[in-house]
Amino acid sequence: MTDTTSQFHADLAALAFLVDAGLDVVIDAEPTDRLKPPPEPAAAPAEQGPAKPTAPASAAREPLPQSRPVAARPESPEVISERQAAITAQQLAAQCADLDALRAALEGFQGLAIRETATQLVFADGNPEADIMLIGEAPGRDEDRLGRPFVGESGKLLDRMLGAIGLDRQSVYITNTVLWRPPGNRKPTPAEVTAMLPFLVRHIELVAPKALLLVGGSALSALFDFDARITRERGRWRDYPAATGPIPALPMFHPAYLLRQPQLKRQAWQDLLSFRERLDELGVAPVTAESVTPDSA
Ligand code: URA
Repeated sequence: MTDTTSQFHADLAALAFLVDAGLDVVIDAEPTDRLKPPPEPAAAPAEQGPAKPTAPASAAREPLPQSRPVAARPESPEVISERQAAITAQQLAAQCADLDALRAALEGFQGLAIRETATQLVFADGNPEADIMLIGEAPGRDEDRLGRPFVGESGKLLDRMLGAIGLDRQSVYITNTVLWRPPGNRKPTPAEVTAMLPFLVRHIELVAPKALLLVGGSALSALFDFDARITRERGRWRDYPAATGPIPALPMFHPAYLLRQPQLKRQAWQDLLSFRERLDELGVAPVTAESVTPDSA
């Protein structure tokens, strides 16, 4: 092989590695350091009038007196536009009288950059009349391609988990916290989750489920508390304060996490049993002989 050919093969192998790792979208020609702090504001123009004596060098090092106001750190254009996106989402979501209107509003929502790299909006799956609503994180590569949530590897595990407690896609309604695939299957950022939250809140109001299953930390943080940790909060029932009244909600591990950490399936099974028990108390989605298939357990 010539040097050029072997370089070509090496480049191709490197590219295949990145695609397998989920980095299959080009966003910009140049990399951007998004962790870099925003630039300092330009120095204020010098005041007119007699020149002031310069403070001695030691004074410059003295701490500022407590009462002196500290200038707020200027917000980056991204932060301002994310805040604007959340306001727009709020206005749009409030006007949606049904699920079709909500989907249409989302199709028109331009507030998030991730929609540019995603193939399509991944709105929901399952039965909108169901009493159970399941909320995941964000679509991955398979979901982005097919336009339905939880159709990839983690979706297959989810189907088996639901089957084990007598549920299937007809007895639940499934959506995500963020409805476009973040590039490279990365976790949605808090700003993206915040911008999507008004739509999620309206989605829950319109479906009006009797129980919520929150799979993964994103749904938990979005609906309750940004600092909540799924590892601590899983299995602990909470009441989601919907406008129509409290809805019991159970956070549990995300199936993608369980695929990576199979030893946690025991805890997930406990949570599923707890969910089933609560459904039985609520008289929701009773288990029938047909609803448990031989391969569901
Ligand atoms: N993970 C999610 O949280 N949602 C999906 O739809 C797929 C994978």
